[in-house]
Amino acid sequence: MLRAKILGTGSYAPQKVITNRDLAGIVETSDEWITSRTGIRERRVAVNETTTEMASKAGKAALKAAGVSPKDIDLIVVGTVTPEFTFPSTACFVQSTLGIKPGAAAFDVSAACSGFLYALDAAEKYLKTGAAKKALVIGVDAFSRLMDWTDRTTCVLFGDGAGAVVLSAEKGAKGILSSNVHSDGRRWEMLYARGVSQKNPFEDNPHDAPRPSPHLKMQGNETFKIAVRTMGSAINEAIENSGIKPDDITLLIPHQANERIINAAKDRLKLNDERVYTNLDRFGNTSAGSIPLALDEAVRGGRIKDNDIVLFVAFGGGLTWASAVVRW
Ligand code: COA
Repeated sequence: MLRAKILGTGSYAPQKVITNRDLAGIVETSDEWITSRTGIRERRVAVNETTTEMASKAGKAALKAAGVSPKDIDLIVVGTVTPEFTFPSTACFVQSTLGIKPGAAAFDVSAACSGFLYALDAAEKYLKTGAAKKALVIGVDAFSRLMDWTDRTTCVLFGDGAGAVVLSAEKGAKGILSSNVHSDGRRWEMLYARGVSQKNPFEDNPHDAPRPSPHLKMQGNETFKIAVRTMGSAINEAIENSGIKPDDITLLIPHQANERIINAAKDRLKLNDERVYTNLDRFGNTSAGSIPLALDEAVRGGRIKDNDIVLFVAFGGGLTWASAVVRW
C-alpha cells in the first residue's frame, strides 16, 4: 500500500512586522486587548510581495530540505484564497518560478483557513493511488489585501505567510495515516470576502448601483464558538480514522487563529504545552499559510522526530474544516 510521506518542509513570511502597538496607531485598539483576546502580538504583512513569491520561497525551501529536484515533482497543489491572478492558478506560477517540469499537474484549492489541509488531502489521493509520485503542497495567503484596515474587529487578527511540504508516494508505515475534509456551505456568512467584481453594461443601473464591500467580513463571536466545537470533533475523527490513541500524539499543530481556540483543543486532548505547537503570537492568523508555517518551524526547531505522530486540525471560511494525522 502506498502512503504520502512528507520528505521536507519550508516556509516564508514577509519581512515587514506589524505589532499590536502599530495597529493601535491606525484603529481604536490596544496591545492589551489584542493579546488577551487572541494571543497575537505581531504579524507579517506582504509589502511589494506577491502570493506567488511567498509560495515559491516556501516551496523552494521545502524542495531543498527534501533533497528533491524540481524536475521530479509531478503534482503541485496550492491552498490559497488570495491569488494575485484569478487565473492562471498560483500553482502554475509556482511551477514556472521554481522550474518544475512542464507537464506536471498544477491547481489551486479554495478552502480559506483549511486550505493547506484540503491541498494536502487532494495530493494524498493522487499519491496513494499512484497517479503522482512526488508532490509539492503549499498553503499561502496574503489576507492583508482582503482587510478593511478601518475595522478593528478583523484587521488585528490576520497576517501574511506561506508554508510548504514535499511529499512522496512510498510503501511503509510512515506518512499520512488519515486525512479528513468537510464543509457546510449553509454557514458561509460567518466568514467571507466577496472580492472586487467588475460592472457590466447589461446590469440595471450599472453605474449607480452600490457595490457590496470587497473586504473580509466575520461574525467573530459565533465563529469562535463554532471553531471550538468543530475543531474538537475534527480531532476526534482524525484519531479514530488513524487508529491511534490520544496519548500517541507527539505534537498537535492546530490552525493558528486564536490562542483560546487552541487551548480548548489542547484541554480536550489533555495535552501539555510541549505537545502543542503555537506561533500565532508572532504571525497571527495566516489562513492557509498557518499550519505549514508552524510545521516548518517545528521541524527545524527539532520538535518532530522519526516515527513521531503529528495531528493537524483546521477550521475556516466556507465553512470548512479538516484534519490529518502523519507518522513522521
Ligand atoms: N480592540 C478593542 N476592542 C475591540 C476590538 C479591538 N481590536 N475588536 C472588538 N472590540 C470590542 C467590540 O467592539 C466589543 O465592544 P462592545 O462590547 O462595546 O460592543 C468588545 O470588544 C467585545 O467584542 P467581542 O466580539 O464580543 O469580543 P470577543 O471576546 O468575542 O473577541 C474575537 C473577538 C474576534 C477575538 C473572537 O470572537 C474570535 O477570536 N473569534 C474567532 C475569530 C477567528 O478565529 N476567525 C478565523 C477562523 S479561521
